Amino acid sequence: MGEPKHVNAPIVLDETAGKKAYCMCGLSEKLPYCDGAHSREGVDIAPFVIELSEDGKKVVCQCHRSANLPWCDGSHSK
Ligand code: FES
Repeated sequence: MGEPKHVNAPIVLDETAGKKAYCMCGLSEKLPYCDGAHSREGVDIAPFVIELSEDGKKVVCQCHRSANLPWCDGSHSK
């Protein structure tokens, strides 16, 4: 069974509209997106699924402590 991995730096990307599943366990090889690693590693953490209505710059939390998941709120630096 794997352990969740939390990193103190968000991922910034130019995101496209549509349904997204952002990794919340930190084990995905396709960060910030879920690749199913949480299931393969037996980690009891689900991805954050969201429907984005438009394209735009996004800052995706990787420490998973944000009060505004899946987006970074600066909690990694506190
Ligand atoms: S791979 Fe991390 S939540 Fe799915």
